[in-house]
Amino acid sequence: GRVVVLVSGGGSNLAALLTAHADPAYGARVVGVVSDRPTAGGLDIARDAGVATAVVAPADFPDREAWDRAVARTVASFEPAWVVLAGFMRLLGAPVLDRWGGRVVNTHPALSPSFPGAHGVRDALAHGVRVTGCTVHLVDSGVDTGPIIAQRAVEVADDDDEATLHERIKVEERRLLVDVVGRAAREGLLVDGRRVRFGRG
Ligand code: GRF
Repeated sequence: GRVVVLVSGGGSNLAALLTAHADPAYGARVVGVVSDRPTAGGLDIARDAGVATAVVAPADFPDREAWDRAVARTVASFEPAWVVLAGFMRLLGAPVLDRWGGRVVNTHPALSPSFPGAHGVRDALAHGVRVTGCTVHLVDSGVDTGPIIAQRAVEVADDDDEATLHERIKVEERRLLVDVVGRAAREGLLVDGRRVRFGRG
């Protein structure tokens, strides 16, 4: 199925998806990459892969609602079956969630429900957990609160700082996101309350 990926940063998760989608059997194809930041490295990764890009920068809009509507219009222009947030650092509003709700997937570098928000790695480290990890989940209107699709655990090393721990998490996170997006595209997702599994009704 057609996938649009939203990025705000370097885009290593996007790069992993682009590597996977080169295999026709993967089942998902990235047809567009959208960023809120014109300078996001993920846009260069998309361009190098010959994938269409678009920028929807908040500064270009009078208010949040106008930006939300522009994001929805831009995503819609790619006619996606799935929307994947891969290091996208803004909350999606109703225009996107109402239209693609249940088909918007996010990756978070912590074991939800622990440590939601923009500093999940830093917060886990500060809390002194010995195990953290990553979560791929469906997006609802909250911050990293949607139904969990899959998780991977990552050990915290005694000498870890935020950067080394985040890099170790990202190794697992990229694998998890690639696996989930491919299976969701091929097999579908069934959501029952907070329980999610692959498959069709
Ligand atoms: C990922 O760890 C994601 O979970 C977090 O920011 C990171 C983005 O990494 N929100 P990249 O831009 O995909 O390399």
